[in-house]
Amino acid sequence: MNGGIDVTQHLRSAVTISRNASTSLCSDELDEIRTQLDKNGYSYIRGISPGDFDYPSFAARLGNPIPHHNGELIWDVRLDPTIESIYHAGNMGALLPHTEAVEHPGPPPRYIMLWCVREARGRGGETTLADGYAWMKSLSEETRRSLHSNRYTWKSSDGIIQSGYYSSAVHPILEEFDGRHILRYDYIDVEREDDGLLDAALEDVKEFFGEQQVAVKIEPGCILVWDNWRMLHGRNAFSDPERHLKRMLLSGR
Ligand SMILES: [Fe+2]
Repeated sequence: MNGGIDVTQHLRSAVTISRNASTSLCSDELDEIRTQLDKNGYSYIRGISPGDFDYPSFAARLGNPIPHHNGELIWDVRLDPTIESIYHAGNMGALLPHTEAVEHPGPPPRYIMLWCVREARGRGGETTLADGYAWMKSLSEETRRSLHSNRYTWKSSDGIIQSGYYSSAVHPILEEFDGRHILRYDYIDVEREDDGLLDAALEDVKEFFGEQQVAVKIEPGCILVWDNWRMLHGRNAFSDPERHLKRMLLSGR
């Protein structure tokens, strides 16, 4: 299990920008990032100048920005003391594996992009990722068919509900859209049903994630972007209240 171990230095899907990329990336660099997203489901980009880089313009070259639940295009992921005791990105606890926006009706955001204002100092705070398509491949044909047909109710996390927003959607764990598979999964924010399938799938993904995850401590001057139709993500707990990331949600192109 890789959880808790920062493997950022030897990720197999990383692009290092060696020139002084102060405001934007060139086409070759973007092509490499897109290739890594297609091949491995994520890309970690190092070597940009954090103070000057135009993150929204870079994001827009990957996909169209989608507003967060509160209407913001760029969401601050940092400590919110009002929700300290609630399961939510705005505290310092671990986040279990999920795909983003299970509560959205219709296709979820294709890409999630995170960058760092200040990393968590000390232990923890890594974003964790595992390949959901590899999990899908481990399933029997019969299980895969059932995961395409059985529909469940997914809802906003308690932290989002606490801040006054609520959304829910009914959909299966596996979908197809535009000729691509979409994995939609959240261990917590789903109405449990005793259909002989859901509980087993939730546990199976959790175990798979524990075994396969890579942990990325996103540092200033770096961007982590992943394919949210394919990758599961989570977070390791941390103890630095100043940790601050920013996030954008993007549709595919
Ligand atoms: Fe998330």
